[in-house]
Amino acid sequence: MANQEDAFKKVVSHAKEYGFIFPSSEIYDGLGAVYDYGQLGTELKNNIKQYWWKSMVQYHENIVGIDSAIFMHPKIWKASGHVDAFNDPLIDNKDSKKRYRADVLIEDHIAKIEDKIKKECEKAAKRFGDAFDREQFITTNARVLEHQKQIDEIRNKYAELMNANDLDGLKQLILDLGIVCPISGTRNWTDVRQFNLMFATKMGSVIDDSDTLYLRPETAQGIFVNFLNVQKSGRMKIPFGIAQIGKAFRNEIVARQFIFRMREFEQMEMQFFVRPGTELEWFKQWKEERLRWHLALGIPAEKYRYHDHEKLAHYANAATDIEFEFPFGFKELEGIHSRTDFDLSRHSEFSGKKLQYFDSELNESYTPYVIETSIGVDRTFLAIFSHALKDETLEDGSTRTVLSLPACLAPYKAAILPLVKKDGLPEKAREIMDMLKFDFMLQYDEKDAIGRRYRRQDAIGTPFCITVDNDTLQDNCVTVRDRDTMQQERISVENLRAYLHEHIQPITVK
Ligand code: GAP
Repeated sequence: MANQEDAFKKVVSHAKEYGFIFPSSEIYDGLGAVYDYGQLGTELKNNIKQYWWKSMVQYHENIVGIDSAIFMHPKIWKASGHVDAFNDPLIDNKDSKKRYRADVLIEDHIAKIEDKIKKECEKAAKRFGDAFDREQFITTNARVLEHQKQIDEIRNKYAELMNANDLDGLKQLILDLGIVCPISGTRNWTDVRQFNLMFATKMGSVIDDSDTLYLRPETAQGIFVNFLNVQKSGRMKIPFGIAQIGKAFRNEIVARQFIFRMREFEQMEMQFFVRPGTELEWFKQWKEERLRWHLALGIPAEKYRYHDHEKLAHYANAATDIEFEFPFGFKELEGIHSRTDFDLSRHSEFSGKKLQYFDSELNESYTPYVIETSIGVDRTFLAIFSHALKDETLEDGSTRTVLSLPACLAPYKAAILPLVKKDGLPEKAREIMDMLKFDFMLQYDEKDAIGRRYRRQDAIGTPFCITVDNDTLQDNCVTVRDRDTMQQERISVENLRAYLHEHIQPITVK
């Protein structure tokens, strides 16, 4: 646990030190759970968004993208169910005066039991060496089975209580599990209450209840209310999808874990409209395709897992999360929901406009069913960034910090480094920079010894360092150093563009 905490602290401090992420309004002591992306963070974030957009919109002929407004008619949130049901169950500790989400306290308790299973496995793996069979161990070891039974019982009980909206039962579960406040260490809890997560604001000059607007808590509704506009103007045929990337806002009460849970964040969502009755088949397909999208980043498969929901949201008939092993354990990264015809039907009802599709093959009109894929940009950033950040010990015993980002997501693709600040090398380096800068994001750096410059580029994830030396002026070749292997090779300046293109391929989902 201490190691996990240290690793996470390192992620947060590295992100700040190198200009990836800053606390918002820092000179005014910050604003809770709001963050700003710095000069490098913005590049990485834009590259992540571009990877998603290309995989969803560019590579699928039947998916188009929109950009709807954040402000929307207030009735939309009544229709979607957010005014009445977008709540978190909250509980206060009377001694520390700290407020917690009841479900998060229970999940954290489960995570501790999962940690015990992990430790049992690690111990056994050490004991049995190569002969260790994890699958066999977790299905037969008595202690692991007992821990797993406990987890299943808690999850079932929790789902049962939430489905029945039994807040007293939820408090009792917290007491029964002996969960204590992490600050005060006591079990002196208040009752559990529901708390709406939407931020409200006012529009126009007349102060009246009807002018209350909400900052959207998800981008999805902007897609649903534009369903007919897009379908008709784009002559879209079912099955088809509408994608969107945009800001969302939630008044998260337990806002911690850096950019994992923010009050202002960004989502990449896609609603896929299908024939009624086919939705579970499409759900399965999207569930698989979205995991492939993650795996194409080159992060090992064991860092991901599905978590099928026991408690379904009010609009869903199937739902799963893709969870990622963050430095603080497995947590939701993406949600995939089969949302039925709930949203379109509700917007038809509340707006009085028929949101249907005429299927010429079936010669009938129906309200399409929807599969949603919804992923947070910031959580994806955190997953990729925290996995990429490593401290390595090199053969000579020295250490380096390296950010092994997938090359096509890295903020800078290459650094151009004149070996010394004289003898015409800076001029030659600038010439190379000018030749390549329309194709690639580059950084020019002539300050400090070359070794220190390499380390700086390693720490910000630059996949290639291009060094211009005295020989370059004679043979028109440069030294290209690979960030991960640290191998160097001589490449002719004429071949540099092709070399970089070949080694910085866009990621594609197979
Ligand atoms: N339209 C469905 C929807 O919004 P969700 O599971 O509430 O579903 C989808 O959110 C994704 O948005 C999550 O998997 C997560 O990646 C991201 N997300 C949600 N709340 C967030 C927050 N407070 N901070 C950062 N990301 C968040």
